[in-house]
Amino acid sequence: MYCMDLTGKVAIVTGGTQGIGNAIVHAFLDCGAKVVAVDLNVNSLQSTEQLLYYQANIANSEQVEKMIRTVIETFGRIDILVNNAGISSMDYAVDIKERDWDRVMEVNAKGVYLCSQAVARCLKEQGEGGKIINISSQAGKNGYRLMGSYVASKHAVLGFTKVMAIELAKDQINVNAVCPGIVETDMKKNERVIGGELRGLNAEDIKDEDISQVPLGRTATTQDIANVVVFLASKYSDYMTGQGINVTGGMTMH
Ligand SMILES: NC(=O)c1ccc[n+]([C@@H]2O[C@H](COP(=O)([O-])OP(=O)(O)OC[C@H]3O[C@@H](n4cnc5c(N)ncnc54)[C@H](O)[C@@H]3O)[C@@H](O)[C@H]2O)c1
Repeated sequence: MYCMDLTGKVAIVTGGTQGIGNAIVHAFLDCGAKVVAVDLNVNSLQSTEQLLYYQANIANSEQVEKMIRTVIETFGRIDILVNNAGISSMDYAVDIKERDWDRVMEVNAKGVYLCSQAVARCLKEQGEGGKIINISSQAGKNGYRLMGSYVASKHAVLGFTKVMAIELAKDQINVNAVCPGIVETDMKKNERVIGGELRGLNAEDIKDEDISQVPLGRTATTQDIANVVVFLASKYSDYMTGQGINVTGGMTMH
């Protein structure tokens, strides 16, 4: 019988307190996993026996190492890492400020490298395989106006996914990426406001423009993305590695 059962598995989800990450956390809990939701903001969130909220900046190597030690102390092992935390910044390429470029690269690219490396070392030591799932974007495959630093960072995520997939294959560690399209989250709301200001449009116009670009006729829910992440965390994706899976309602097809 087919069943997305993650009982006995321990998963780390970065950026797990809101948006796509939070949907992934709850999908994993529903499948029986124990989950660590790592985020910059965990204030007033209540941990349970199955769910640990942990405050850390994924772009800081010391904090990442400490987070991994805490996960092992708390749940005894690690099986799944979802590198979901990310930020965006908008400007025309000729106007991007150096500090904005660095900030986006630090979180979106360096954060993925630091967390993947720390978890991969742990998975290799455990010797029982594992799953690393990186949330890239269709911006990891295409260019989009005003998104220079973000597009570059998400291409970097896909590149690193492929290298880790090759290097960790012999340890039965699958490394794949999900490339969401347009997902209704706070990040997307902010992008519509800032993009609107830069283009002389209002946020609602941009939302209509977004929807008009999606063949399936709607933008994504966070659940649409979590569904595919669950599949990539399950045994049903054991023969997939190094892939960047589009979840875009048909907007990106390569
Ligand atoms: N929303 C979209 O349309 C869309 C599309 C494609 C890809 N994505 C990607 O999906 C992921 C989640 O995006 P979202 O829309 O849910 O965003 P969001 O802004 O709603 O949530 C991001 C979460 O990451 C956390 N975070 C940010 N920097 C962090 C850091 N340095 N350390 C720890 N946590 C940090 C934030 O506190 C927040 O909880 C991101 O990687 C984003 O690039 C989003």
